[in-house]
Amino acid sequence: MSNCIAIDGPAASGKSTIAKRIAEKLNIAYINTGSLYRAVALAALRAGRDLASIDRGFLDTLQLEYAKDAAGGYELKLNGAFPGPALRTPEVAAGASLVATRPIVRDYLLDVQRGFAGERMVVMEGRDIGTVIFPDAAFKFFVTATPEERARRRLAQDGEAADGATLAEVAREIAARDKQDSERSVAPLKPAADAAVIDTTGLSIDEAVDTIIGRMTRQQEEK
Ligand code: DC
Repeated sequence: MSNCIAIDGPAASGKSTIAKRIAEKLNIAYINTGSLYRAVALAALRAGRDLASIDRGFLDTLQLEYAKDAAGGYELKLNGAFPGPALRTPEVAAGASLVATRPIVRDYLLDVQRGFAGERMVVMEGRDIGTVIFPDAAFKFFVTATPEERARRRLAQDGEAADGATLAEVAREIAARDKQDSERSVAPLKPAADAAVIDTTGLSIDEAVDTIIGRMTRQQEEK
């Protein structure tokens, strides 16, 4: 069994905030795997590369590593520097979803992610952690919320929606990304058969975190 708390779910479901909070409460590391796909897209955009035809040669030029940031959490470094807000723009989000459809990109990023669950428990958040990266994760959750609620949350997140975007536009952007993430042939977004699905619509962050920690505690007691 892998020492991993897998938290998967669609865009803007609140999974990053929830995963980070769980890691803080349990005093363990938190890894955001979406950053890897975002970093590949950002590097390709900066290099003027066609995102749909990224090849191994290009991937081999990238240096991707997680390092402790000023706050003591793990953040991704791209070619030796923390990309910061550049990773969170709508253009990079859409680009990440596109490069994530490419098997060559997913294969390349597999080892980086598998290297993380070792002696110590880690919270890993993404789309395929419970299905592909750690099918034997100790705990699996699929965090979701209604499309309307997710669009509202995305709009409230600084820098993540295009300037002046309306709720309807953000909802469309999220729906397009969900469709691409769910319909790709390799490692599509879906709950693992043994994941607990947590619908956070109407839940505060604290309530969602407590629900997840409560389930993990019960799962351990039942063993
Ligand atoms: O979680 P996020 O929004 O930062 O992820 C950006 C994109 O990366 C997402 O639309 C699909 C892709 N992704 C993935 O395919 N697999 C993961 N484990 C994480 C992200």
